[in-house]
Amino acid sequence: MKGKLTEEKVFKDPVHHYIYVQDQTIWDLINTKEFQRLRRIRQLGTTYLTFHGAEHSRFSHSLGVYEITRRVISLFERNEYPDWPREERLVSLCAALLHDVGHGPFSHSLEDIFDTDHEEWTCAILLGDTDINAVLRQVGEDFPAKVAAVIQKTYPKPIVVSLISSQMDADRMDYLLRDAYYTGVNYGTFDLERILRVLRPYRGKIVVKESGMHAVEDYLMSRYQMYWQIYFHPVTRSSEIILRQIFRRAQELHGQGYTFKWMAKPLEKLLANQLSLQDYVKLDESLAQTAFAEWADEPDELLSDLCLRFLNRQLYKYVTIENPDETWLAELAEALLAAGLNPDYHMEIDYPFDLPYDVYRPDQNNGEKREKAPILLLDNEDRISEISVKSDIVRSITGLRQGQYHLYFPEEPLRANKSLLSDRMRQLFKLD
Ligand code: NI
Repeated sequence: MKGKLTEEKVFKDPVHHYIYVQDQTIWDLINTKEFQRLRRIRQLGTTYLTFHGAEHSRFSHSLGVYEITRRVISLFERNEYPDWPREERLVSLCAALLHDVGHGPFSHSLEDIFDTDHEEWTCAILLGDTDINAVLRQVGEDFPAKVAAVIQKTYPKPIVVSLISSQMDADRMDYLLRDAYYTGVNYGTFDLERILRVLRPYRGKIVVKESGMHAVEDYLMSRYQMYWQIYFHPVTRSSEIILRQIFRRAQELHGQGYTFKWMAKPLEKLLANQLSLQDYVKLDESLAQTAFAEWADEPDELLSDLCLRFLNRQLYKYVTIENPDETWLAELAEALLAAGLNPDYHMEIDYPFDLPYDVYRPDQNNGEKREKAPILLLDNEDRISEISVKSDIVRSITGLRQGQYHLYFPEEPLRANKSLLSDRMRQLFKLD
């Protein structure tokens, strides 16, 4: 087993200032090709088309999650809290660093189309024939499986899982701060140092000292704001819809035996749903962007149109609607068809709650598997309570399910030809 580096390595980071690496294993993991690939995958997918600063990578986020976890553990160790199992340090740090290593290009959009799951790929990378697996096995034969169990939330010590995956974990704390920084918004910030100082290991869980409640409120409010201002942003959704339609069309053409003028092997395997682990780790956003540029010249007009829209940011317009009405939708579909478009690809209704985010849910088990552990407060008399019981602010945003439908479609052809839609519909779809 390898120990500490003779000299600590330091990364400069705009969010955490510095990121410190002290273990040979962590340093070796960072230098594997599977981890370096994360430099070529953006943390926020297509958000850069809405907030141009959002070019940060999963590489920087993964280092950030590692650093927060390292700081929490070192606080636990310095204070000699008896409830922190010291032997779990390295497995926790490795899981933090590697928790997103299975993300593919534009993860969430592609997962919808190809029915893949980044968490399954993460485990495949940890356990399969990869450089990461080789580094982890140098710690112990069963070590890759232990790290995978933490990420899958099946590790026998829940305290380790909750560091990486709970309602207030190192993952969320890093992405909120990082996404706020790179998008340039003011509202994602909260006092990380204060939160880290009030965390306590307590009877197999991580809890928050009650005096830190207001810092946690601030964290949850920033999460609430980030979801609505950044993650659910309707313009980002528009770019995601077009991206999904590109891959949907490419897959459809591939299934029909269409011969692409340009194709890369890992992409072809993706379209055929035959990805091997070796193909998967060759997929990144540079390859996807190259494909869009090449496919813009394909003879298939639909694929070419979708790629040009994505590359040149000619996104679909959106209108907010209370309740989708079938007759309006039929009228819009007909107008798009008359304009030479394909409503099956050029029109979509979206409800923001289909997104993989939630603001805060205290209930540990509401039917979904592997619910994230709630935030627990510890008072001076050693009593535990769930935060929404004590905090009016948290209670007011807990389990919120507000949301509206958005209808997406290209507006230019409908603006260019006024006779395609009735006046009433033009008003309804805000085309005047
Ligand atoms: Ni993450």
